[in-house]
Amino acid sequence: MLKHLTVVDHPLVQHKLSLMRDKTTSTAGFRQLLREISHLLAYEVTRELPMTTRAVETPLREIEAPVLAGKKLALISILRAGNGLLDGILDLIPSARVGFVGLYRDEETLKPVQYYFKVPEELQDRMVICVDPMLATGNSSVAAIDLLKKAGATNIRFLCLLAAPEGVQRMQEAHPDVPIVTAAVDEKLNDQGYIVPGLGDAGDRMYGTK
Ligand code: URA
Repeated sequence: MLKHLTVVDHPLVQHKLSLMRDKTTSTAGFRQLLREISHLLAYEVTRELPMTTRAVETPLREIEAPVLAGKKLALISILRAGNGLLDGILDLIPSARVGFVGLYRDEETLKPVQYYFKVPEELQDRMVICVDPMLATGNSSVAAIDLLKKAGATNIRFLCLLAAPEGVQRMQEAHPDVPIVTAAVDEKLNDQGYIVPGLGDAGDRMYGTK
């Protein structure tokens, strides 16, 4: 069983994350690093995919070889920054089903409001991996997972690149059944809700919008 929080401390992950934190890293470099790091994080978050066997004939003899079992897993990207992690995971798992959750923050209530929700069918029969690079306050992650549970998902993982302690705690309180996999847990959130030291706005860094 994955623990509630797994920090992937592999040297390649930590090295790539440090390059991503560097404010002089270009947009192209940031996107490429995110793609590479998402391969390594995907390896960790998919550890518990169910397995079966099937008969395979090697050039020498037949064996019962291990293969993935069950329905294709579902990758759910929280727009827009989730797409950076999604692209890399799809390199590894090209047949995964894909969904999108769009949320914005209501400036009066400060609560997340859904503007887009499209997910694969039969979520209840799939492992669901929800991706967003930054687990900051946890508000959008908790809201996205609420929506996924309402749509039937019962076996959910949350994958991010960086987390704030505040976001981890919020997720632990709201969704203790959803393991979180991340490359690092940083020091804190600042008054604007940015992770410190962090890497800035992941969407802007990825798409060059600032
Ligand atoms: N979202 C980001 O992109 N960066 C943060 O630091 C926090 C939330």
